[in-house]
Order: sequence, then C-alpha cells, then structure tokens
Amino acid sequence: MDSDSITAATTTTTTETTITAVTSTTASTISTGLSKTAQKKLLKQQKFEAKRAEKKAAAKAHKKSETERKRKEWEEKLSTLSEEEKIKVMESRKELRKERMDKRSVEKQLKAERLTAAKTNGQNVVIDLEFSDLMTTSEINSLVQQIMYCYAENGRCSSPAHLWLTGCQGEMDKQLQRLPGFDKWIIEKDTQPYIQTFENQKEHLVYLTADSETMLNDLDPKKIYIIGGLVDRNRWKGITMKKAEEQNIQTAKLPIGNFLKMSSSQVLTVNQVIEIILKYLETRDWKDSFFQVIPQRKRFEADLEDNQEDLGDKQDEEQYAVQEQKKPCTET
Ligand SMILES: C[S@@+](CC[C@H](N)C(=O)[O-])C[C@H]1O[C@@H](n2cnc3c(N)ncnc32)[C@H](O)[C@@H]1O
Repeated sequence: MDSDSITAATTTTTTETTITAVTSTTASTISTGLSKTAQKKLLKQQKFEAKRAEKKAAAKAHKKSETERKRKEWEEKLSTLSEEEKIKVMESRKELRKERMDKRSVEKQLKAERLTAAKTNGQNVVIDLEFSDLMTTSEINSLVQQIMYCYAENGRCSSPAHLWLTGCQGEMDKQLQRLPGFDKWIIEKDTQPYIQTFENQKEHLVYLTADSETMLNDLDPKKIYIIGGLVDRNRWKGITMKKAEEQNIQTAKLPIGNFLKMSSSQVLTVNQVIEIILKYLETRDWKDSFFQVIPQRKRFEADLEDNQEDLGDKQDEEQYAVQEQKKPCTET
C-alpha cells in the first residue's frame, strides 16, 4: 500500500468508527426518553463532533503522508550526490535548522517580554467566564478555541493588552487546562468573578455589550473592559447587559454602526471583539479595525437569525474557523 492509500484507508476507518460510535450513542440516548427537540439537538451535536474528529484525523493523516513524502524526496536527492556533496548539503541543512530554531526562540523570548510588560502597562481586558453553566460542552469547546486564538493574537501585538480570565472554574477551567501549554500562558487567571477581583476599581469596570446605549468612542487606559465569555447562538439575548445593570457597572457597545453597514445584529464573537480592541490599540482607527476583523458574511447573518438550527451550525463552524480569511465589509 502506498502512503496515499494508507491515508485514505486510515481516514475511512476513522470515519466509520466515529459514525458507528455516534449512531450507537444516539440510539442509547434516545431510549433514555429525551424530548424530540433534545434528541435532535443531541444528534446534531454528536454529528458535529464526529465531523470534527473526522477532519482532525484526515489532517493528521495528511501531515504524516507529507512528512513521509518529503523524507523520501530528501533521501532521493542525497542518493544522487557524492559523499563530499552529501556532507555539504547536510551541514547546510543543519545550519538552516539551527538558524530557524534560534529565530523562533528569540521571537518566543520577545513575546514573553511584551506580555510581561503588558501586565503593568497594557490595556486591561477581561473575559468573563461565569457563564459556563449556560453553555453546552461543544459551545464551551468553541469558547476555549476562541480564547486560545485571542491569546495568540495578543502575543503577536507590538503592544499587547493585559488579558484576564475571571470566574475561571469548573468545566471551563477543565477544558482550558487541556490546552497544550496553557499553564505557561502569560495571562491573569482568577477563579473569582471580576466583581471581586476588581472590587476596589468598580468605577473603572466597563462591560462591553451590543445591547448598551453608550457608544465606545475611545479606549481609556484606566478602564477595565469586560467581554462576556459566551457562545450562546443568541439564546441568552441581553444577558450581559442585565448583569452589568444589576452590578451597577458601566456598559458600552462597539461603534460598529458608525462605520459599517451590517444587515444582521451587531453581536460579535469573543475573539472578534478582542481582535478589534487589539487592532484599535495599535491603530486608534475603528474603521480600519472593523474592516480587518469583521468578515463580509457577517452582513448576511440576519437571514439566518430566525433559523436557530442553521445559525447553530454556522456559528460553530465560525468558532472553529477562526483562521478563515477575513474579507472587508461595506462602508456606510
Ligand atoms: C457572542 S457575544 C455574547 C452575546 C450574549 N447574548 C450577550 O448578551 O452578551 C460575546 C461577547 O462579546 C461582546 N460583544 C459582542 N458584540 C459586541 C458589540 N457589538 N459591542 C460590544 N461588545 C460586544 C460582549 O461582551 C458579548 O457578551
């Protein structure tokens, strides 16, 4: 069997195994007497997870076959060379690899320095993780992916924000701990709610929420901006606004309407909001920040809003496809 056939065989086997697992889990769950809607939802979630596992397995198999192909290519190249040439080529490859590794370690060091400096002079941005009880496991997974993306994006910034994860406990914490290297992240983690973490700075807290009447015109370095750690397929409309009002803290919405025409709601995902803030910190230009971050298709989400099932799929895809190419939106 050549490597391509092996890849295909591996993928097919994985797919079959996953689908079988889903079917049997579903059958046993249905027999436990869930409502039809709950069964449908569960089945959908399981199918989504099976699809994700399938994609992951295919990517892994592809990576393996690519490594194998490159190794063969390299061996073939070496076999055409004289001993002297072989030594030369191998030495230059070794050197290149060392250079790459040195560069990577310098970048890592610089990133750590930037993130450490941000702890004293970076804009405080909090992700409020107190909503994990309102999310399904797959939504929590999506949120974890988004947080991972936010952290990576922050690390790339020349002047990063000072990121906080508050109310970090239970399932949410468990999922975050599973991220490779999470324990080494240069970020503030607190099991307490932000209202306790910042009890002496309550007047500086600003909850960012699309439901606020107040437009965020500029970022104030003294303020602590809070973002709701929620992937809720719009089930919990207005929940962050209500929370901020009950806690008597300030609220603000991003000034999207001033710059973009969006036919859908202006509720963005956590990573989009953080990315916009990071871009704005660098450019002080809202328009540019929105255009760089908000994908064009966001303008069409309104058509899907009434169809929760479609929106669910779409949003889940969106959470995992954070690397997708971002297209510019239309100007108002
Ligand atoms: C997916 S949204 C959660 C929506 C949730 N139903 C709510 O009531 O906030 C994630 C978070 O991003 C922030 N956010 C999203 N769109 C925003 C906007 N247009 N302006 C300000 N903050 C926004 C909010 O903090 C929000 O809680």
